[in-house]
Amino acid sequence: RSIKSLTASSSSHILRRGYASEAVPDRKVAVLGAAGGIGQPLALLMKLNPLVSSLALYDIANTPGVAADISHINTRSEVYGYSGEAELGKALEGADVVIIPAGVPRKPGMTRDDLFNINAGIVKGLCEAIAKHCPHALVNMISNPVNSTVPIAAEIFKKAGTYDPKRLFGVTTLDVVRAKTFYAGKGKVPVAEVNVPVVGGHAGITILPLFSQATPKANLSDAEITALTKRTQDGGTEVVEAKAGKGSATLSMAYAGAVFADACLKGLNGASDVVECSFVQSTITELPFFASKVRLGKNGVEEVLGLGPLSDYEKEGLEKLKPELQSSIEKGIKFASQ
Ligand code: NAI
Repeated sequence: RSIKSLTASSSSHILRRGYASEAVPDRKVAVLGAAGGIGQPLALLMKLNPLVSSLALYDIANTPGVAADISHINTRSEVYGYSGEAELGKALEGADVVIIPAGVPRKPGMTRDDLFNINAGIVKGLCEAIAKHCPHALVNMISNPVNSTVPIAAEIFKKAGTYDPKRLFGVTTLDVVRAKTFYAGKGKVPVAEVNVPVVGGHAGITILPLFSQATPKANLSDAEITALTKRTQDGGTEVVEAKAGKGSATLSMAYAGAVFADACLKGLNGASDVVECSFVQSTITELPFFASKVRLGKNGVEEVLGLGPLSDYEKEGLEKLKPELQSSIEKGIKFASQ
């Protein structure tokens, strides 16, 4: 053999040994609503995640095709498709993380709350199955209105006796993704370095980006901060209108969902200092659920971090969002207790 091929084979041997001794634990991720606009690209991104060993794709229909397609990608995880309610239990069994993008999206002119009547029922059914088949999984709720679907999930889990507030998350990562992109564009700072916490909830004015805490610092006027705040709050609507009846954000949401699920997996695997914003049970304001920075660990939420110093504009925004967020939370609780 030539020197070149010897070198190549010995280095791949070292690589293989290195990989085996790293002992990446087996992790099962289930995506519920996997054949949908978010579900499909999210399933693709989870298939690319080396922390996933088993990927369960569940929907009421069309999952065999999505699963067959994604299963041909030469990455670590085994892919399984599950179709229809009879297979939901198998999809969930042994899951470490369950991601829920099941439900109808908005059309132009609709608010997230307009989705309540359909999506509340879907989320309720799925959460009853989670309580039965994988009560210890970390649940990543994407289905809107998140401000209500997370309290619904909590109530369903309480009824089943499985509720652990450390394991239930409303996915607000897309608000953070948008805030980072818009801030970098306006402030002319490198987007990859930008950090902006987004707190509150996930609808209209309940989305409160804290640009006063954004890094790196950009020299922005009050008017520019106000415009950036509004654009972040209306980012979803911007996409709904551009898609003109064909749905809401799917690709950027899949990216955001994959970022958040990856953070959950890293936390479960014991990585240190994994922090993401999420809508969780909270005591940092008087509201029972609130989005803020959360430290993730082996049991899910390790610590709900405080709001930090707010500008006067942000303080005002915080007081304004509380009544709407409170009523969305109550609406979810009331629905689940019927
Ligand atoms: P879509 O209509 O393209 O896909 C939804 C999928 O859910 C469909 O494949 C449908 O068959 C499936 N589904 C319906 N009932 C189900 C059930 N009982 N069990 C399993 N699957 C079921 O909708 P898209 O665009 O993927 O949006 C999904 C949800 O995500 C919507 O509620 C939308 O409002 C929400 N969303 C949330 C965002 C966030 O930032 N948290 C951002 C964008 C959308």
